[in-house]
Amino acid sequence: MSEALTLDFLGDLKRTHDCGAIRLAHEGQRVLLMGWIHRRRDLGALIFIHLRDRAGVSQCVFRIEENAQVHSRAEDLRPEFVIAVEGVVEKRSADTINPAIPTGEVEVVVDKLWILNESKPAPFPMDDDNTISEEARLKYRFVDLRRPRMQHNIMLRSKIALAARKAMYDSGFLEIETPFMTKSTPEGSRDFLVPSRMSLGSFYALPQSPQIFKQLLMVSGFDKYFQIVRCFRDEDLRADRQPEFTQIDIEMSFPQQETIFETVEKLVIAIFAEADYNITAPFLRLNYKQAIEQYGIDKPDLRVPPMVDVTELFAGQGLGTEGLPMLAITIPRLQLSRKERDDVKAFGVEKGLRVLDDLKRLERDMPEVMAEVKRRTGATDEDTLMIAAWPSEPTGHRPEETVYLAAGQLRLHMAQKFNDRHKLLDPKDLRLLWVTDFPMFEWDAEEERWQAAHHPFTSPFEEDIPLLETNPAHVRSKAYDLVISGVEIASGSIRIHRRDVQSKIFSAIGFSMDEAKNRFGFLLDALEYGAPPHGGIALGFDRLVMMLAGEISIRDVIPFPKTSKGTDLMCEAPSRVPDKNLRELGIQLRVKT
Ligand code: AMO
Repeated sequence: MSEALTLDFLGDLKRTHDCGAIRLAHEGQRVLLMGWIHRRRDLGALIFIHLRDRAGVSQCVFRIEENAQVHSRAEDLRPEFVIAVEGVVEKRSADTINPAIPTGEVEVVVDKLWILNESKPAPFPMDDDNTISEEARLKYRFVDLRRPRMQHNIMLRSKIALAARKAMYDSGFLEIETPFMTKSTPEGSRDFLVPSRMSLGSFYALPQSPQIFKQLLMVSGFDKYFQIVRCFRDEDLRADRQPEFTQIDIEMSFPQQETIFETVEKLVIAIFAEADYNITAPFLRLNYKQAIEQYGIDKPDLRVPPMVDVTELFAGQGLGTEGLPMLAITIPRLQLSRKERDDVKAFGVEKGLRVLDDLKRLERDMPEVMAEVKRRTGATDEDTLMIAAWPSEPTGHRPEETVYLAAGQLRLHMAQKFNDRHKLLDPKDLRLLWVTDFPMFEWDAEEERWQAAHHPFTSPFEEDIPLLETNPAHVRSKAYDLVISGVEIASGSIRIHRRDVQSKIFSAIGFSMDEAKNRFGFLLDALEYGAPPHGGIALGFDRLVMMLAGEISIRDVIPFPKTSKGTDLMCEAPSRVPDKNLRELGIQLRVKT
């Protein structure tokens, strides 16, 4: 810090405008601006600074010939100093207009300057610049958040939260809070635990979602609940996962699935409008089976064409494939070299597929078949076309899905690997899709038992209830996801509201009644006190903002996120606590750290 610099007090100074708000209409007016010095250019007799606040940047000029004293003080100014300036707005001469910024037609000619605070040099350049390490950004997050890109993202987040609240209130919903210090919830991740001082040896769990409480609110008669709420999950992190994240959580009584879709579509349209996306309802829909058969995944990315079933075209050609379909995969506008094709093929083979990629040979050997394949897929000579089949005995608990899932991986592999050429995966191309009728259960290979695919309070299709004991793999549930360009944005279901059905589901997933009572007894009790039919959904708020901001990591839309190791580099959490605090909680560490 410079020693000679004298700082000024704010006193009774008041801003007249935001830095980013000055326009030609203010020409000739006196203004008083406050903000951070974004950039500084010293031309001797003239000193220019860009003064920044969250509304934008205004150019301020200090002219020696107009005010030598203020000009001389301006020589001490450095980037990120906090200052106030007063002066007159002038129109810039035609050759100095800066069309890149909204305030670029004017500048403030300063005659009064207050230096409110100085700053060490910023730890990284403040202009948007992808060369800054994420570690530095997270350590100095308070500075990183000042950068225009982050200012935009956080302001967008706030605008989206407001639009979401407004849309929900307009649809007749109430915002109701649910506890953070609670008991284990059923989303299938690990809980974060909070030790209790007053009940030594006991722990609260932070909620993985408000699932149980929102169902209880339905039993209590608060039809149409929503909450923009923090959730906590101790799971492995990725670009689209944080240990604490935010959901727009919704629940309704007496809904049809349709009622929930209409509510969410209205909400999502309002949210998208905040980022200037004009979308219309109803959104496209596929059931789970269609999603798997056409895209080989339960969260289809509609930016890449679907797979096409070409089985019967190849019948009798001696390409026997264990009774599973043959699928044509097309990636438009992509030409692969021999080596690239071999690599892609090797990827498919590793997934268990047989991949027919030598189109020239296929066209020579079976021209009519290939002409029909091209007609059905719409593939041209500009595109990459491959045929995937399953050469061995399919395994797994839903063996009929085997070839689709593997071919789906091959399709996405080509889409992601060669995106710089075909450019299908444009982050601004947001394609919305409902996926419905998910299977009720997934096989947990580690524990060797069925698990609820969504959560155990999801209602099965009534007509599939008899399959619970005989064929759990094929019980369908009233669960649905909203998928945007291949990312799961929301998940929900119609719930079980009857105790007898709930008991059957617990027994199908090998949950003893004692265990169920221990974990969710209060919900089971509530089902016996007039629980109405109900259902709901939760949208991943951070993921939505990420997509609308055009970012690829949710860390860039969360003000103070954790690293991929779950740490906060700025405040150095998690951290050790003094032994005294542990003793008070009756805790003794067993690991030496
Ligand atoms: P689910 O567990 O699918 O459903 O979560 C809903 C949505 O929340 C987002 N999400 C996350 N976002 C960031 N980081 C995470 N770790 C994370 N985990 C989930 C996703 C996801 O689609 N109680 C049910 C909802 C219901 O049935 O109403 C639930 O929480 O976008």
